[in-house]
Amino acid sequence: MTANTTQARDDEMTHHDCDAVAVEAADHAMRNWQGDDQAPVRIGSDAHKQLFCHMLLDTHNPYKPAALAWPILDAQTLQRVVSLPIWDIAVQTEERAMRRVHAYADTVRDPLLNEALVMDGGEEARHKVVLGKLVAAYGIDLAPEPSYEASADPEWGWLVTGYSECIDSFFAFGLFESAKRTGYFPVELVETFEPVVQEEARHILFFANWVAWYRRQLRWWQRPLFALKVLRVWLFLIWERIGIAKGLDDRGVMQDANFALTGDQQIGLDLGLKEMLDLCLTEDRRRMDGYDHRLLRPTFVPRMARFARLFVR
Ligand SMILES: [Fe+2]
Ligand SMILES: [Fe+2]
Repeated sequence: MTANTTQARDDEMTHHDCDAVAVEAADHAMRNWQGDDQAPVRIGSDAHKQLFCHMLLDTHNPYKPAALAWPILDAQTLQRVVSLPIWDIAVQTEERAMRRVHAYADTVRDPLLNEALVMDGGEEARHKVVLGKLVAAYGIDLAPEPSYEASADPEWGWLVTGYSECIDSFFAFGLFESAKRTGYFPVELVETFEPVVQEEARHILFFANWVAWYRRQLRWWQRPLFALKVLRVWLFLIWERIGIAKGLDDRGVMQDANFALTGDQQIGLDLGLKEMLDLCLTEDRRRMDGYDHRLLRPTFVPRMARFARLFVR
């Protein structure tokens, strides 16, 4: 039923695909959202759950990947795009995210939360389709995809995806903006990709609120176990990122470098680390600003960035 609802909304928009006004309105709607009333909301309450689920559901942008226009690039720009070492890992990350979110959604009986999770996973699937279109449009060669193994613990997979999006999106926000400012990529290409970046902002906003809500649903003795699990997730993510930075995947096969780690060189950025962190922080605030202020913002990665900033000259 939930997948159908998403499909129905998407179909509803099909005849608008060429309508610039509708596209503009959908773009505004995905970035700005307030709950029905402005009554205070207690974190962990049912009203809180309603708020973060409806935020995600109501801000779904029904664009069709097939309708996206990929601008024709001059030879030099095309070379830049093709040689970015991110395409394999980006495609695989979206596939993995889709699988993990849907696997977790299957375990959630609450209809509203389930609907929101199904939509979240559906958007990950759409990200992969968008990347597929881009790859095809510019003749990028992809490595064959690995086999994706399902985790025995769907909650683990959901936490891994949620927290990794919190890290990667934060840096992607800054890198994306700097690519835009330096004109390293043509504005049309940046604009085509923009909805995907904002979707990740919605995802991490949803995730941060889900974590806070979920923690409060647990019994007192479950909370330390959950805290331990979150810690294990972070250790896993650090280990995973060290592996990626070394250019190796878990089977020791050469892979793409991580966008967040090497993206600045790839984007021909002349910002220092401090300016880069500032840009990530500003962009993070800007992208979150349009959503109901009763929702919590993801804070851990921005806090770490502010902390790291103190040690950068
Ligand atoms: Fe995604
Ligand atoms: Fe996402």
